[in-house]
Amino acid sequence: MKHSVLFVCLGNICRSPMAEGIFNDLIRIKRVEGYISCDSAGTGNYHIGNSPDFRTIQVCNDHGIQLSHKCRQINLKDFDKYDYIIGMDNENYKNILKLLPLEDDRVSKVYTMGEFSKKYSQLEVPDPYHGNKNEFEKVFIQLQESCEELLNQILSIKEAN
Ligand code: 4NP
Repeated sequence: MKHSVLFVCLGNICRSPMAEGIFNDLIRIKRVEGYISCDSAGTGNYHIGNSPDFRTIQVCNDHGIQLSHKCRQINLKDFDKYDYIIGMDNENYKNILKLLPLEDDRVSKVYTMGEFSKKYSQLEVPDPYHGNKNEFEKVFIQLQESCEELLNQILSIKEAN
């Protein structure tokens, strides 16, 4: 069975496209393209159709990762399409849940990034939009660890089956 992941932040131009780029790189390195896929989306609609923020692109390029994502907003169909819908911070998490009707089972697919991390389990992924490139670099390091742990967890399910 194929597993799919949707990374979600507010604008879909900083954190979630960075997570998507990092996760796709790990998927390629581990050669599990046929088994796992991912995308990203925003809870907000301010930047629909735009490329990621130039600082996200720069930091990813510094780490050898190219991004081709165009910003889109999360919608109800995503709750059927994805197995893991992962908000970067608690506000994203709450806004994702607000989209679902009350008592909808698909609430069980919604997580925060920290739930998959060992090192940053007590931290949200901070919004770097008003920061400098250093803030984007720190977010990259945090997301790299969290994405590695997420991939390990998904692959451990694969091995168990
Ligand atoms: P992101 O960062 O949620 O990590 O993409 C933001 C990008 C843009 C805005 C807020 C956060 N904004 O308000 O335009």
